[in-house]
This record gives sequence, structure tokens and C-alpha cells, in this order.
Amino acid sequence: MQVALKIWRFDPAAGDRRLQEFEVDAPEWATLLDVLDIIKDREDGTLAYRKSCRMMICGSCGMRMDGGAVLACRTRMAPIAESGQVPVISAMGNLPVIKDLVVDMGPFWSKIRAMRPWVETGYEEMPEKENLIAPELMDPIKKEALCIMCGCCVSECNSMESDPEFMGPAALAKGFRLVGDPRDRATVERLQAYSARHGIWDCTRCYFCNERCPKGVDPRDAIAKLGAESMRHGIDSDMGAKHARWFVRSAMTTGWLRETELVPKTQGVRAALKETKFALSLARQGKVPLPFPPHVAENVEESRLLFDVVKVQGRDGAAGIVQGERALSRIEHENGGH
Ligand code: SF4
Ligand code: SF4
Ligand code: FES
Repeated sequence: MQVALKIWRFDPAAGDRRLQEFEVDAPEWATLLDVLDIIKDREDGTLAYRKSCRMMICGSCGMRMDGGAVLACRTRMAPIAESGQVPVISAMGNLPVIKDLVVDMGPFWSKIRAMRPWVETGYEEMPEKENLIAPELMDPIKKEALCIMCGCCVSECNSMESDPEFMGPAALAKGFRLVGDPRDRATVERLQAYSARHGIWDCTRCYFCNERCPKGVDPRDAIAKLGAESMRHGIDSDMGAKHARWFVRSAMTTGWLRETELVPKTQGVRAALKETKFALSLARQGKVPLPFPPHVAENVEESRLLFDVVKVQGRDGAAGIVQGERALSRIEHENGGH
């Protein structure tokens, strides 16, 4: 088949960035990575990109296709070529570009390292035999353990775009992989560290990381689980945690999300007064809801029952986070890796 694509090239020596178009003959089964290999072999040996396993496991070949992060070795080109589309390939986002499609993964790895990515067993002395645990005890972190550190989630992270110091979806998913590990003895210290500035409460919940993760890790869900675990352990001094707590309370008592009361309830009356000017400008635009809900919601009992169910079932913390089990269903039903 004939495959055409455009690649954003970057020459670090000249600081020059340009879009270059290629068209090559490739086998029907070719992935984006195979096409890049063909271009490098036959057209331009200077094209730079990373690869290793060619089977979606090493995490080396993350890059963007038409603005969204993909694993090159997971992206079949036949449907794209047949549609006549000429995709634009570029380096991943939110990481400095070194050359062409190669990014500097240094910032990525330093955030992973900051998570203390090992199990803190708390042993005084190393036992002679390995510490075996029942496989089902690892179920809560099955998804997070699937991460291959490709950086596709980081590439698309909204929060990281505005705050490069944000810990980010990959590191925080790693954080939950450890917090949820029954052998780890550093849960509270971890949750305190992960709840600090640039941490879990700075996520904007855009869900792009879930959408782009090629392994179904669903990092945003991992962040939600970290938030729930933090609150279960009383680590809730961050404004984000206070907001979450207020929304639970307001939904339970009246069935409404009482946003007008959010600032005085979570930041105090003094902070609320400071926001008066801003509130008035919102009011002029008709964007301020009523100061108090007009009545208790008709079906408020449902929200109260939900609260009770969580308590009765002991689903406080991470166990109460409802999520799509895309990764696990893929493993169980093996539907062709889609
Ligand atoms: S949901 Fe949060 S962590 Fe995920 S991409 Fe959006 S801002 Fe980043
Ligand atoms: S969470 Fe998914 S997208 Fe992010 S680094 Fe891990 S495997 Fe890649
Ligand atoms: S080359 Fe290893 S994941 Fe693509």
C-alpha cells in the first residue's frame, strides 16, 4: 500500500523546525513504526525517533499523530492510508524535544523517582524467602501495574501544560500502584507527599490521560483513588480536598451542589469577602447561582442512600471510586488488543 505522512522535523543544531512530507510503499500490516523504519531505511537516514520492542511493551515509541499521543508500534496504517488521510506526526507534548520525534524523558523520570517507586516493606532485616501474598490482594492495583512508562498520558495532560511541575498522570498512577499495594508500609507518608502542591488536587479532570493511555491504566482514575485514600486518612488540608468534602456534604444534605457556599465553607469567610468583587462581576453576567438551594431536592433520599451504601459496604477510600474497567475487560476477553 502507499502510505503518505507529514513529519515535524526538528534540528537542534540549527533550531530549525519544518514539516516534511513522505510517501512510501509499505506492507498491508505496517504500523506507524514500520513506516518510520521504511522512511529511515530508504528515504532519510537522519530521521530520529525511539523504538525498541515493536510490540507495545517497552514504552519507547510514544509520539503524536494528528495532535494526539499514540504508540507508533500499536498504530496500524492501513485504515488511515485507505481513507486518504495524510496524518501529521510530531514529538510528544509537555516534554522538551531533542530531535525530530525524540523527547527528553528526564522530567518524566524525575517525577517517577519522586514517587519513591518501590515497595516500602518496613523490614528491619531482609527475610530469607520472598514475601508471598494472595493474588487477589493485588487486584486493586492491577490496572496501575500495567503502565509501560510511555509518557502518552503526560503528553496530553492539560494540567502539566499550565504547570510543568504538576506531578502528572504517569507518576501519580505509579503512586497509587504503591499506595494500593498491601505490602507497602508508607501509605500515609506517600499520601501526604502526593497531596502536596503540584500533586493530586491540581489535576483538572480533563480525562485526556485516560483517553490516550495505550494500556488502559486510566491514570485519572488512579488520581481519584489517591484523593479518596487521602481523605480516608484525614489528609485533606488542600483546597481540592476541602472542595470534594463540601460537595459530598452538600449533595447528601440537600441533593444540590451548593457552589455559592463553596468558598466560605472551604476557604473561610475572610477569603470569601475578598472574592466579592469577582462574585459581583459574575453576577452581572448571570453566572452566579442562588445563594442557597430553593428547596431540598425531590430525590435527595437517593443521594443519602448512596452515601449509606458506601459506608455499609466499607467502600470508603479507593474502593468507592467507580471506574470503567477497560483494561481488565481487555485482558479477560482478549478482543484483539483494541
Ligand atoms: S485528567 Fe488530570 S492528570 Fe489526566 S490529563 Fe487531565 S489534568 Fe492531566
Ligand atoms: S499511564 Fe498509560 S500512557 Fe501513561 S505512561 Fe503509563 S502506559 Fe503510558
Ligand atoms: S517500540 Fe516498544 S512500545 Fe513501541
